[in-house]
Amino acid sequence: MKLTFPCFSGDEITNLRECLNSGHVTQGPFVDRFEQRFRDVHGCAHALATTSCTAALHLAMAALEVGPGDEVLVPAFTWITSAHCAEYMGAKAVFVDVDPTTFNIDPAKIEAAITPNTKAIVAVHLFGLSADMDPIMAIAKKHGLAVVEDAACAIGTHYKGQPIGAIGDLGAFSFHPRKAITTGEGGMVSTNDEALAVKVASLRNHGASVEAHYLDEDLGPWSMNAFPNLGFNLRLSDIQAAVGVAQFDKLDALLAHRRATAALYHERLAVNGDIQRPGSAALSEGHTYQSYVIRLPGFGRARRNAAMAVLRDQDIMTRPGTHCPAVSTYYASKYGTSAQDFPLAATLEHETITLPLFPGMRESDVDQVCRALLSAL
Ligand SMILES: Cc1ncc(COP(=O)(O)O)c(C=O)c1O
Repeated sequence: MKLTFPCFSGDEITNLRECLNSGHVTQGPFVDRFEQRFRDVHGCAHALATTSCTAALHLAMAALEVGPGDEVLVPAFTWITSAHCAEYMGAKAVFVDVDPTTFNIDPAKIEAAITPNTKAIVAVHLFGLSADMDPIMAIAKKHGLAVVEDAACAIGTHYKGQPIGAIGDLGAFSFHPRKAITTGEGGMVSTNDEALAVKVASLRNHGASVEAHYLDEDLGPWSMNAFPNLGFNLRLSDIQAAVGVAQFDKLDALLAHRRATAALYHERLAVNGDIQRPGSAALSEGHTYQSYVIRLPGFGRARRNAAMAVLRDQDIMTRPGTHCPAVSTYYASKYGTSAQDFPLAATLEHETITLPLFPGMRESDVDQVCRALLSAL
């Protein structure tokens, strides 16, 4: 049994045929439609498709003009590029330990990490559960910091009834195949800030001052074009967006199924007190369960791995939740960070398990995983 897999139907092929027949395969009309579908779901003023969430985070940092001498606060339990985006710009990623219930940045620990050099906070909505944005935004306001929401796992996620992604200054989303909907690789920058949107549009398109899809209509714009910014080529292709537009048609159904499947896990796993189930009563309503991640508190790495091995032997694929980037070779050797500095995040890396949750997963599949897990424990 796989952890997850993408859900495609004939619509992606229909759109791909239309795209290829049109001959317009770089950023163009399908990207426009993809961005519009995203804006409809997330209720933000601007959505800018890009090649990955990592690219979206990089663009967000560049648009905020984060640079050498700046510090960016990042949760200590997350995918490594939540932190790398600051480092790409020559800034320093400063880690903050996470909340034991939500696995998201612990707002109570943020202020202790703020220095005169702090410029921004990356609030990660890990596994589809929103970070606690009210206290994060209050701290950011008090200290004059920007907030970037790393929403790689959080398409469709809500915080207290509001879609995430433009609660902070900018959001960054992923359409990698382990996400609820996919374009193969792909990402999105979201924002309500017009000036930041203009900057991101330029930076993803070589730093040009003209929108990308006008460029190949005639030769005029290139010749008049100004390049005010040191930009990149981080544009999503229309081929990928053609797939993405069809994927958006399935989003509601896929998310409803993920929530229902998570509820089954929740119920079945309640019988064993060794298992910490995901979420937090206060915030779980808007959870989209990109991953269903449990913790085995006190188990440590060896016993957690032994439980995963039992599942693997029954052909059930699992993964650790995510990582503690502060203990990675890059950050540990650059800043001397270690597991002792982020005890919870470092422990979560060794005590979490992502269980299978895939489109079409049946109740009997959940039962099979739960039986295997409960007997392994
Ligand atoms: C929290 C988080 N941020 C960023 C990323 C990077 O996303 P992408 O693979 O689209 O670059 C991921 C990937 O899973 C992630 O989980």
